[in-house]
Amino acid sequence: MSQPKKFYITTPIYYANAELHIGHAFTTLAADTATRFQKAMGRETWFLTGSDEHGQKVEQAAKAKGITPIQHTDQLVEKFKSLWTALDIRYDDFIRTTEERHRKTVQYVLTTLHEKGDIYSATYTGWYCTPCERFWTEKEVPEKVCPDCKRPVEELEEKNYFFKMSKYQRTLIDYINAHPDFIRPENRKNEVLGFLAKPLQDLCISRPKKRLSWGIEVPFDPEYVTYVWVDALTNYISAIGYPSDMERFNKTWPASCHLVGKDILTTHAVYWSTMLFALGLPLPEIIFAHGWWVISGGKMSKSVGNVVNPLDLVGKYGIDAFRFFLFREMAFGSDAAFSEDAFVIRYNADLANDFGNLSQRTLSMLLKRRDGVFHKGTATLPQSREIADLAAAVKKDYIASMENFLFHEALKRTWELISRLNKFVDEAAPWKLAKEEKWAELDQVFYIVGEGIRFCAYLVQPFMPHTAPKFLEQIGLPTNFVPLKNLEWGQLPDGTKCKEATPIFPRLDTPRIETLKKAGKAEIQPPKEGAAHANLPAPSSKPSPLSPPALAPSAADGIINYDEFMKTHLCVAVVESAEKIPETDKLLKLIVRLGEETRQLVAGIALHYKPEDLIGKQVVMVKNLKPAKIRGVESHGMILAAGTPDGGLAIVTTDRPSSPGIRVK
Ligand code: MSP
Repeated sequence: MSQPKKFYITTPIYYANAELHIGHAFTTLAADTATRFQKAMGRETWFLTGSDEHGQKVEQAAKAKGITPIQHTDQLVEKFKSLWTALDIRYDDFIRTTEERHRKTVQYVLTTLHEKGDIYSATYTGWYCTPCERFWTEKEVPEKVCPDCKRPVEELEEKNYFFKMSKYQRTLIDYINAHPDFIRPENRKNEVLGFLAKPLQDLCISRPKKRLSWGIEVPFDPEYVTYVWVDALTNYISAIGYPSDMERFNKTWPASCHLVGKDILTTHAVYWSTMLFALGLPLPEIIFAHGWWVISGGKMSKSVGNVVNPLDLVGKYGIDAFRFFLFREMAFGSDAAFSEDAFVIRYNADLANDFGNLSQRTLSMLLKRRDGVFHKGTATLPQSREIADLAAAVKKDYIASMENFLFHEALKRTWELISRLNKFVDEAAPWKLAKEEKWAELDQVFYIVGEGIRFCAYLVQPFMPHTAPKFLEQIGLPTNFVPLKNLEWGQLPDGTKCKEATPIFPRLDTPRIETLKKAGKAEIQPPKEGAAHANLPAPSSKPSPLSPPALAPSAADGIINYDEFMKTHLCVAVVESAEKIPETDKLLKLIVRLGEETRQLVAGIALHYKPEDLIGKQVVMVKNLKPAKIRGVESHGMILAAGTPDGGLAIVTTDRPSSPGIRVK
């Protein structure tokens, strides 16, 4: 039987001009998680990351610090590497574009394409912006200022080298159509095809040394250095031995997946693919463009001062909680909003309450009632088969999701098993079985839950490599994991004795959570789909014949357009009845009328409004919110409210009476 090809995964190489934030950490953690999963499946893996060190911005950053570019990048690379260590990212190789092995490959690639006639020189005139390092056409700069930075542009006539990208346009379109899984997710593939529907310009791949000296020299013209994207993209092959060690290269290439952010999809899907066609090399199997982490709907940026430092969160909440949050909260491929409140809410709900508490409450009872020993016995409880079948189905779906980089789906499905197990404990009521001395049934309950904890520890392991073994340890098992493909339900050995049940994810009761609780929010489950945020379009790139497309993200990021806003159906409603939900402090069950229709919904406002004061009140509600069950009560919509400066809550209403059911827009 032939061995499956090595799983070769890459991250973008990060610009060595500034420190990294949660967005960069996210891509690298995704590659780490995918690698851990593939390893767990028994596959040979290779995980590459690195640093992109050439270009004008790096040169300028070094100058500002009064040091040489290499001193500057050396310092940053140390910081990158220590961040990866702090996040327990286990890469196999770290490529720096300033390394000799890389320079040689870039020059070999340029020579090959030049000899093949795919690189030619041409002279053009254009308007150049020095700080932005790019040319604009006459039409684009009517005021003779840079459309991006608003600084003056100067007219330049310049000879440069161009890569005949246009020659491969048809081949690329046909390739993408013949390989529907090459660019993911689907909507990003369509964007690339849309981009390719227009004539593709050739790519300017050089910069004269008189303007930029910090780069790799063009081998056939020492007056020029290579354009930074040609330099950077080549890292994916220079690091694995192209062309110096073709035996090693052929064992690893093509990459199984290039993980990239949506802003750099064009460079990967178009520039890189056409370069590979020209070199006669196969294309990577998958290019996966994930979405962005945004803050309050906007882009994270140093100048705005809203950059999230991953180390702050890891220091506060631990690596695994941080890793878990990123992959559960973001639907991989879509954007997601980061907030520490969302973090704490998800931590408490999924980790402390669901998984952590399942283990803790079961093991405490097991220690008290059965000396901590799991007895397999014979399965007679009606749920026994059903839960075993669910576990097998969850494992199957989990593997399919992980193979496709759908991390959030994999975790969501795993939590379905955890929820079922928690529900099972409630149904089976082991405390009652113990009282009634039904020992055989009690043993079965403990065994099923113990087995469930073991099973779930396997599934969360790629995401939470530190805490997953702790779950195994608590139930009394060795902390080494057998290959995931051999994981079957029912393998918890009879007679396993558990350890002391200490909380693995202690509940977070921060002052901030207290405020949220007062506002009724902490009671509510986190958004299970992780995609409640606008899935913003990727910035569009408009290539000019004189210069590569602008790669800066568009200002539209974080802003939604009218059509996107209109997807949220807000309407006026009138409260017909309101009552407290038993055993909760903050929740009210409301029946509201919107036109002909009435709806039941749950609102976390009981600390601020008496039920009787709400009757007849006109409110504004989200009509098309996915129904949810909150504390067992169905909720079909959500009323809007705003926090008040004194920590209270004010329901949103209309300025003058309106009619129930009327749309708010
Ligand atoms: N050097 C180039 C990549 C060359 S790869 C051959 C580069 N570097 S970067 O440091 O600017 O960005 C690297 C990656 O970080 C990109 O994939 C980008 O999408 C990602 N992110 C930067 N900010 C991000 C968020 N806020 N959220 C998620 N990822 C984001 O581009």
